[in-house]
Amino acid sequence: RFICQSTNTEKPKSRNLFDNASNILTNFLSGGNLGSMPTAEGAVSDLFGRPLFFALYDWFLEHGSVYKLAFGPKAFVVVSDPIVARHILRENAFSYDKGVLAEILEPIMGKGLIPADLDTWKQRRRVIAPGFHALYLEAMVKVFTDCSERTTLKFEKLLEDVHVQDTIELDLEAEFSSLALDIIGLGVFNYDFGSISKESPVIKAVYGTLFEAEHRSTFYIPYWKLPLASWIVPRQRKFQYDLKVINDCLDGLIKNAKETREETDVEKLQQRDYSNLKDASLLRFFVDMRGADVDDRQLRDDLMTMLIAGHETTAAVLTWSIFFLSQNPSKMKKAQAEIDAVLGKGKVTFDSLKNLEYIRLIVVESLRLYPQPPLLIRRSLKSDTLPGGYKGQKDGYKIPPGTDIFISVYNLHRSPYFWDKPDEFEPERFLVQKTSEGIEGWDGFDPSRSPGALYPNEIISDFAFLPFGGGPRKCVGDQFALMESTIALAVLLQKFDVELKGSPDSVELVTGATIHTKNGLWCKLRKRAHKV
Ligand code: HEM
Repeated sequence: RFICQSTNTEKPKSRNLFDNASNILTNFLSGGNLGSMPTAEGAVSDLFGRPLFFALYDWFLEHGSVYKLAFGPKAFVVVSDPIVARHILRENAFSYDKGVLAEILEPIMGKGLIPADLDTWKQRRRVIAPGFHALYLEAMVKVFTDCSERTTLKFEKLLEDVHVQDTIELDLEAEFSSLALDIIGLGVFNYDFGSISKESPVIKAVYGTLFEAEHRSTFYIPYWKLPLASWIVPRQRKFQYDLKVINDCLDGLIKNAKETREETDVEKLQQRDYSNLKDASLLRFFVDMRGADVDDRQLRDDLMTMLIAGHETTAAVLTWSIFFLSQNPSKMKKAQAEIDAVLGKGKVTFDSLKNLEYIRLIVVESLRLYPQPPLLIRRSLKSDTLPGGYKGQKDGYKIPPGTDIFISVYNLHRSPYFWDKPDEFEPERFLVQKTSEGIEGWDGFDPSRSPGALYPNEIISDFAFLPFGGGPRKCVGDQFALMESTIALAVLLQKFDVELKGSPDSVELVTGATIHTKNGLWCKLRKRAHKV
């Protein structure tokens, strides 16, 4: 059994997972500040055989919105309350860093935005965020559409090859992964992985690296930090090799971008005529931006971070969107009816994309049910007092520096205190009603807090719904991702009817950074008979 205890002593920020674990254990044994915080107790077996976030949900219902949990030397405060999440992510954001997550990701992403320390983050966010400006996103619509069509062309070809049958069976999760990789390569550094149609050493290296990141996020003992582990342990040797393959590829792209640099002001860059640009990528923007000079290493870390941040997350949201739709035939029909009405047999354009509202809400509802990632990880840099006032807790808890925190987005998104039928797939829940009194949101959330928002977000929901996080470290690629996923779904469902091959129960879940399937999302695809 594992039991959680409390912490009170202030410790300097720990240097690694072991230091941190022992600090926390010492803190816990001495009792104190967290003493009154409810404690999750359970059998360690509760954690085996199912993803951690499921167990955290059960304990949330049992112990409330803020509780502590420890297993072995690891201890965490688990937060499932919007006001506490808002405090940590937005109001007091700079009192927290990425803690354990940064330790795991730093060998891969270096000082890229996700694991970056606050000083680096402040400098780089100022350069990276303007890159996602309106004309860039508009230019990306063509990239999203072309890559999605490459995927459906591949499926059509496969259908022709098995001409005796009218269906093909495919692992759509793997196909979405290739699609997302091709899109992120083109959008971020104008590199065509071409992974929809082939395998290359670089593609293999990207998957190898993702696999290792996942292994590290779920493996208990960070043996890879031991001296010589990267040379002695075969999987660590392979990881070093994969990193080198990707880094060499990125270094080549950076060199090329710098050699063709045309330095100019950020405003001018944001008004470039994208229809005539051969290279609309973010790398081009970062290199051309006046005053954003940066060493190649930092630029490479930024590119690597976006490659990883934007790849698996998008593949996962597409996978679960299809999974939920395939179990809801009437919603699948409704989605296809919207696509037919908006697109007919034509292509998605920047303007028509806005009218694919139901498809967009399918993506958003999938992110509610399976948020990517399901947990946001933070570590306090200073003492802090969490807000109180939520269910069963009047005063806030004091937390010492070095406290590791999981904000369970999964718990927030399925909270019975905020959602009607929280476990049901209901994209309609987000439909905004226009009434004679103005605009009405869903379940009491208020769309007027964020007028013109592309999707129901953390502001409208006051941090009860965090599809892309919130506060200063919110996802920088949220609009990119939402547009990309909406287009990919629309192009697929415009051309194909999709069914699950087996039963929904046979689709097992696993988690690393994101929630994905254990053995793929095997589906049957049939070409749609178009009535349009
Ligand atoms: C951060 C979700 C796609 C780049 C985040 C965070 C979330 C998130 C929840 C906040 C993490 C935290 O607070 O700890 C998603 C989802 C996506 C997606 C669900 C797809 C459906 C993308 C894409 C890109 C991207 C396409 C880039 C092209 C980033 C970066 C950060 C980030 C750079 C770090 C931001 C910072 O710390 O300033 N993402 N993301 N993401 N995301 Fe995304």
